[in-house]
Amino acid sequence: MEPTQVARTPEDEFLERAGEISERFLGNIESVVHGKREEIKLVLAALMCGGHVLFEDVPGTAKTVLARAIAGSIDDATTTRIQCTPDLQPTDVTGLSVFNQKDRDFEFHPGPIFANVVLVDEINRAMPKTQSALLEAMAEQQVTVDGHTRELDDPFLLLATENPIEYEGTFPLPEAQLDRFLLKTQLGYPGAEDEVQILVEQRYGHPLGSLRPVLDVDEVRVLRRAVQQIYVDPLLQRWIVDLVRATREHESIAIGASVRGSLALERASRAWALLDGRDFVLPDDVERLFQPVLIHRVTFRPSFLAEARTIGWTAAIDAFQRACLAVAPRPRPEDGASFARAT
Ligand SMILES: Nc1ncnc2c1ncn2[C@@H]1O[C@H](COP(=O)(O)OP(=O)(O)O)[C@@H](O)[C@H]1O
Ligand SMILES: [Mg+2]
Repeated sequence: MEPTQVARTPEDEFLERAGEISERFLGNIESVVHGKREEIKLVLAALMCGGHVLFEDVPGTAKTVLARAIAGSIDDATTTRIQCTPDLQPTDVTGLSVFNQKDRDFEFHPGPIFANVVLVDEINRAMPKTQSALLEAMAEQQVTVDGHTRELDDPFLLLATENPIEYEGTFPLPEAQLDRFLLKTQLGYPGAEDEVQILVEQRYGHPLGSLRPVLDVDEVRVLRRAVQQIYVDPLLQRWIVDLVRATREHESIAIGASVRGSLALERASRAWALLDGRDFVLPDDVERLFQPVLIHRVTFRPSFLAEARTIGWTAAIDAFQRACLAVAPRPRPEDGASFARAT
């Protein structure tokens, strides 16, 4: 008799292929950015759900290297960098139409926003109207120049860096626009061992120089479609909504996260599950993503900020997360959910 086998559906095979692509992608990036697997996963999660990332970080923590490594991992992908200054004009980002004497016609010169991976350094130094142009590009995947709407590249991933808020001469991003970023994170310094490895491997050049593409644009689309297919149990969906609603009711909060927050938390959790090789979301995914997805979307009251200055920012937001979890406790398997897709 033939041994019995669990039948694998085309969907299982598709998700397995996506898991293999994401593993390959992550491994390639990790060959140049060391000790930052979690952070790289966050950025890939954003790419996989068509979102964008804000880094609040000190200089020299491999943000430029990460952007270049992502683009360099995808066959034919392009990368650009925009350094924001107070006099950077919207057309410096989007490009503009220039009159061509010879052809007696206008010709569009695309700006640096037309690339697959765009690194925007010090976004809070750009003037508000330039920030708006960037945020429109992120939200709409297109820009409008001289009345013409132009589609951006696909995939399009924007990584913006922001100086820690106390820096002078900045225009803090308005709260309403911050929530256009799928998530906010930081890379931070590597550990001592990793830093030694960085010294050793950069002796004769930068490892980016030998980085090779390991996937193509079609495979990026496979990742995106796979994220759409990851299963989220209805109990978890409801819990995500309850958690986001808890941010609106908390006493330390002036304005809580919007529906965009719920959408982002659910999407990012699906991408996180895929990066973990699962085809369904677990409560751990949601809890892991609570801070990177939600904290930049809420406006804290001055009393919370004062408290945070005393006990430290990390302790303050951990306490905030615990308070939200107390209001919206995680569903338990004994409530009848295994969280896996029913077969
Ligand atoms: N975690 C890390 N892994 C590998 N290299 C790193 C790491 N952190 C910093 N570096 C190295 O430090 C240098 C500065 O990185 P860069 O990407 O230019 O910084 P940033 O854009 O964040 O200011 C690069 O040579 C980079 O390779
Ligand atoms: Mg840089």
